[in-house]
Amino acid sequence: AQRKQIDEVLALFRLTLEQLVGVQDRMRAELEFGLKKKTHPLATVKMLPTYVCGMPDGTEKGKFLALDLGGTNFRVLLVKIRSGRRSVRMYNKIFAIPLEIMQGTGEELFDHIVQCIADFLEYMGLKGARLPLGFTFSFPCRQASIDKGTLIGWTKGFKATDCEGEDVVDMLREAIKRRNEFDLDIVAVVNDTVGTMMTCGYEDPNCEIGLIAGTGSNMCYMEEMRNIELVEGDEGKMCINTEWGGFGDNGCLDDIRTQYDKEVDEGSLNPGKQRYEKMTSGMYLGEIVRQILIGLTKQGLLFRGQISERLRTRGIFETKFLSQIESDRLALLQVRRILQQLGLDSTCEDSIVVKEVCGVVSRRAAQLCGAGLAAIVEKRREDQGLERLRITVGVDGTLYKLHPHFSRILQETVKELAPRCEVTFMLSEDGSGKGAALITAVAKRLQQPRK
Ligand code: BG6
Ligand code: GLC
Repeated sequence: AQRKQIDEVLALFRLTLEQLVGVQDRMRAELEFGLKKKTHPLATVKMLPTYVCGMPDGTEKGKFLALDLGGTNFRVLLVKIRSGRRSVRMYNKIFAIPLEIMQGTGEELFDHIVQCIADFLEYMGLKGARLPLGFTFSFPCRQASIDKGTLIGWTKGFKATDCEGEDVVDMLREAIKRRNEFDLDIVAVVNDTVGTMMTCGYEDPNCEIGLIAGTGSNMCYMEEMRNIELVEGDEGKMCINTEWGGFGDNGCLDDIRTQYDKEVDEGSLNPGKQRYEKMTSGMYLGEIVRQILIGLTKQGLLFRGQISERLRTRGIFETKFLSQIESDRLALLQVRRILQQLGLDSTCEDSIVVKEVCGVVSRRAAQLCGAGLAAIVEKRREDQGLERLRITVGVDGTLYKLHPHFSRILQETVKELAPRCEVTFMLSEDGSGKGAALITAVAKRLQQPRK
């Protein structure tokens, strides 16, 4: 009888092919809505123009700084690009952003960023140089040009005050001025999906999609200018940052959302927002697992019916633990050891159930992400009037990189839902900082009056 109750819960997370096709269709509709001038009041996939209009052509060169803010790590980078041979050298340093700063005031956040830049310049012996800088800022920004970006709203773990509605480039410039120690030429602000697409696009010109499956979930792609109503001009293409994490915020995913998803949403920093992201990305999968485990324990089906203090603690199941628990080579005894490390005392049966719970949650995440990706590749194929489309997706993010099954299930789902598209997945090895530097190099070249 116990088994039956457990199976009932697990079944809520198993999606049928029909349900996945439904998700794909709704994503497709939302992508189209978002491109319209008169955005539908219920449109939740923002489809933000990025003013990035082409791939690097190999002639870029120079020394650039890049910032990479919004994923697991905050990095400052120096990127040296040599033209011709497409060779790039990078030096970077990772800095911590303490929770008090992520959720403090905007001024404190930007002062901290500038402090880290100062440390880095000092460390590299570059204090005097006024280098061009590309800012990877992995949050939704409304852009009017490549070097302007108004933060629409924080997502993931950030919630600094007085930033929403402000231009992040201005905030960075002001913080640099406040410190009054060095000057920088801020040339571009870039979403991490866009940076990733560029990083991969430098190697493979067929890379026209950028995907992040990490702390958050998002995708960008090259769209025909004529389809982008918000930007003037019909020639060529522009990269659109979809911000697909907000998919479902109008209720269109309610038929597949479970009570556990709702609990995760309600306990988050941004309730009601980023519902698709909360079903598909690293910051939330562990939370869904935790909610299910709490539910099962309450029903007396786990942990001898005892909800420990640890289990009540938000954020204990980080992506790396989920990845470990689901690793095929791991014996159950080791699963128990991981649970023990997390402060959860389990029996052998408990560990089997926990592993199953992790399995259904991450599988659903990969399938949902795959359904989203299938929607975009099919759109690109149809827009170009092609029988078959070959396209490369540049991918980054801890979930994609660390999880033992996520990437495979994602790829299988895309294959199944978009059979006429031949999609190559290219892992970004160098992060999005390299892409941000390339975008900066291109923007710099375009700034210069032609001689
Ligand atoms: C990094 C990119 O490699 O991946 C970041 O450089 C990006 O820009 C990150 O945000 C996403 O992964 P995660 O898992 O750290 O959020
Ligand atoms: C969140 C952000 C988005 C970013 C993604 C991945 O969804 O809103 O801008 O690309 O996380 O980091």
